[in-house]
Amino acid sequence: MTTPADKRSTTGSTTGSGAPAPSDRNSLTIGADGPILLHDVHFLEQMAHFNREKVPERQPHAKGAGAFGVFETTEDVSKYTKAALFQPGARTDMLARFSTVAGEQGSPDTWRDVRGFSLKFYTDEGNYDLVGNNTPVFFVRDPMKFPHFIRSQKRLPDSGLRDNHMQWDFWTNNPETAHQVTYVMGIRGLPRTWRHMNGYGSHTYMWINAAGEKFWVKYHFHTEQGMEFFSNAEAAAMAGKDADFHRGDLFNAIARGDHPSWILSVQVMPYADAKDYRFNPFDLTKVWPHADYPLIKVGRMTLNRNPDNFFAQIEQAAFSPGNTVPGIGLSPDKMLLGRAFAYADAQRNRIGTNFHQLPVNQPRCPVNSYLFDGQMAYHHSGNAPVHATNSGGRPWADETGAMADGWEADGEMVRSAYTLHAEDDDFGQPGTMVREVLGDAERDALVDQVAGSLLGGVRSPVLERAFGYWKSIDPDVGQRIEDKVRAGSAPEPAEGMGEG
Ligand code: HEM
Repeated sequence: MTTPADKRSTTGSTTGSGAPAPSDRNSLTIGADGPILLHDVHFLEQMAHFNREKVPERQPHAKGAGAFGVFETTEDVSKYTKAALFQPGARTDMLARFSTVAGEQGSPDTWRDVRGFSLKFYTDEGNYDLVGNNTPVFFVRDPMKFPHFIRSQKRLPDSGLRDNHMQWDFWTNNPETAHQVTYVMGIRGLPRTWRHMNGYGSHTYMWINAAGEKFWVKYHFHTEQGMEFFSNAEAAAMAGKDADFHRGDLFNAIARGDHPSWILSVQVMPYADAKDYRFNPFDLTKVWPHADYPLIKVGRMTLNRNPDNFFAQIEQAAFSPGNTVPGIGLSPDKMLLGRAFAYADAQRNRIGTNFHQLPVNQPRCPVNSYLFDGQMAYHHSGNAPVHATNSGGRPWADETGAMADGWEADGEMVRSAYTLHAEDDDFGQPGTMVREVLGDAERDALVDQVAGSLLGGVRSPVLERAFGYWKSIDPDVGQRIEDKVRAGSAPEPAEGMGEG
């Protein structure tokens, strides 16, 4: 709930219940030096509320910030989707939040990490959330591995320290991480600012047009500011000088009227292609080469308004890949299906059962949900029926049969890796990236970065596995990394660190 400026008391402060507060400077005591009295309700309210000021930070993506803006559909992609926000000329209010993944609330913005790229579009058909990253791929392809992955990037159980050994232990035991690790260890692991990085939906999503035809799509947001990166030295210096550098950069740019923008393009795969495409198109560790599916421009996103209140509008913002709208669906990507559950559940825990009723999360269209009560229920449906079906005239949903955004699935229940397509493996695409996408200087920087990271406490047998991992990506780069590490002085393992 906001307190509009014209309703704010101008003659002093108030208690939470609106009555004049007696004093914000002196507690109530018996005599100037005497004990504080239990009936100083205002003082007790201040103490008690202060104790409850924080909500749990996001796990993961705790450190971030964001801004409001608008998305304009400048092109005609109506033959691929009927979603209202992607119809020609549509302008949709939106919110963006950028973040690091592993660091906690107070951690430096410039640590090497993937960056979150979360978008919420307040459409006439409900909120559409696209919760992506600044990289088009991810570390793992089965959501069962996600909590293990995140824990391995965070802190050791005994010392509470970050640990390269633990990170590389996870990565080298799970070779499907190779593509994303190559990204993060390369220049994209250190964007200069959030304004100077691209964003990707990363997963494959479904688009459905007005005739009911389905397509598979991947989203690409290209920065109009141009991509810019930090060197390790610049990032390290900035981490010490200004841990909130990215947060400040975005806020200050918008405050001075320098509104950052991104062009959205999509890759569109005809529905039937998915079956035999050379890579499994639902494998989140893979990209679709642009030569196979070129970029199709959709529109422009511009961020033009800072939050008035960081906690209410950014910390309490709740994004979920499960929030889709008509014309947009999920896909058989198992990671995406796992995420469709995870986010709203995290938010019920982090913010509260009725997080969707907070102004920043509220849809801008009429709501008729059969969700009732719970802590802090604010919106309600009066005495309308609470059950569906009902005879009281309250509408309920009643789709049956094949779903507009569904796909076919049949077979035995199994626990299994994805079915491999003709060119699927873990190292092919990262190898291509190292050899064909990176230039000589970028390849040298990658070798230095990986060797430096391995010299930062990675021990046997993880170290040898890491050499093998990089040689599988590219024999030459792998050998150069090994030579550099062997020539360097690897620190002794610290006492008491868990073995990999
Ligand atoms: C199975 C895999 C995953 C699970 C279970 C998962 C779970 C979560 C959870 C629980 C949060 C905190 C949400 C909150 O408290 O509001 C979160 C945040 C986030 N995740 Fe994931 N995640 C997964 C994979 C991914 C992937 C693949 C991406 C990007 C392509 C991603 C991008 C993000 C971003 C950007 C945020 C921050 C959201 C914000 O700005 O509020 N995650 N994730």
